Amino acid sequence: MVWGCAVHYESGKICVLRFSRKSNNMTEIIKVEHLVKKFGALVAVDDISFEVEEGEIFGFLGPNGAGKTTTINILCTLMKPTSGRATLNGYDVIRQQNQVRHSLGLVFQDPSLDIRLTALQNLKFHAFVYNIPRTVAKKRIEDVLRMVGLWDRRKDEVCNYSGGMRRRLEIARGLLHHPRVLFLDEPTLGLDPQTRNHIWNHILELRKRQNITIFLTTHYMDEAEVADRIAIIDYGKIVALDTPEALKRRVGGDVITLKTENDGKAIEELRHHHKIEARRDSDGLFFEVANGEEFIPLLVSGLATEIHSISMRRPTLDDVFMKLTGREIREEAGGEGVMRRQWAMRQAGGRGTRFHH
Ligand SMILES: Nc1ncnc2c1ncn2[C@@H]1O[C@H](COP(=O)(O)OP(=O)(O)O)[C@@H](O)[C@H]1O
Ligand SMILES: [Mg+2]
Repeated sequence: MVWGCAVHYESGKICVLRFSRKSNNMTEIIKVEHLVKKFGALVAVDDISFEVEEGEIFGFLGPNGAGKTTTINILCTLMKPTSGRATLNGYDVIRQQNQVRHSLGLVFQDPSLDIRLTALQNLKFHAFVYNIPRTVAKKRIEDVLRMVGLWDRRKDEVCNYSGGMRRRLEIARGLLHHPRVLFLDEPTLGLDPQTRNHIWNHILELRKRQNITIFLTTHYMDEAEVADRIAIIDYGKIVALDTPEALKRRVGGDVITLKTENDGKAIEELRHHHKIEARRDSDGLFFEVANGEEFIPLLVSGLATEIHSISMRRPTLDDVFMKLTGREIREEAGGEGVMRRQWAMRQAGGRGTRFHH
């Protein structure tokens, strides 16, 4: 279990520094058993089971349409599952909806602030909905607005806020009633790298200050690194669940990326001479080897196909996703095109079909 993180951007990538602590007595705050959600013939959530420990940052990572928002909607009582069971803070999400709702804060994927109101008015309304006494609310509103750096702008109408400020205000609102679990559905979607960095620092700061559990979804691989544990979800199923480090260890060794004059020929050569199954992605060919530094000289001297460039790196969560699903998450992370591709795949009866008849 990891309790402290610092995040900063380096050449556009999020870097995470972690400080570990030993964990005893961890209790589960979310428990999901065989959850299924169907929309007609489409199985959006396909028999998933997992537990989230109190105080951890738990990440749901997967491409568009994987079933992340649907799962969150069920856990937040906004949607009923087709079958299966889930509890949050010990309360059943179907039979004890009020208790569940009071235990959680939610930052939606789609903005849900009233932009004609000021930040202060938005938060006062939320406090009213949650029956927070007026004097308590006043203090808490100031606390959360200061935490997300919006206290000075509290009297501005939200329509004058930037995208990043709106997201920070949503996070503040999600925290107002002191939830045990904060759900963040794609909290930095559509924001620029600097603003993403800002939001992440607020989220991690928050976790340091309060013993809150954070359940986040993202299709950004680098953001998922912030989580203590990640469930990789694809076509409604959890295909792996572990710490980011352990997931990356599964890929094993070093990743070699290769650009050649004839990729098809190079794949054949690698297969025959080195017993390696290289795969293609948008950058060329890539494959894993146990020790890159030893392998590269062998490759350069032995390959008949001309090599244009060669590079070596440690595995990323992108590699993990590719290893588990045979696809890149990046290429799927883009709205309309994704849906069309998934539709085409289903029509073709290809992998990823998940219509159950
Ligand atoms: N209300 C709905 N009616 C029909 N299909 C839905 C509905 N909500 C989501 N879906 C479908 O369920 C699948 C999972 O969606 P979603 O949970 O939003 O994915 P993610 O959040 O991972 O992008 C998608 O194929 C989506 O089109
Ligand atoms: Mg979603």
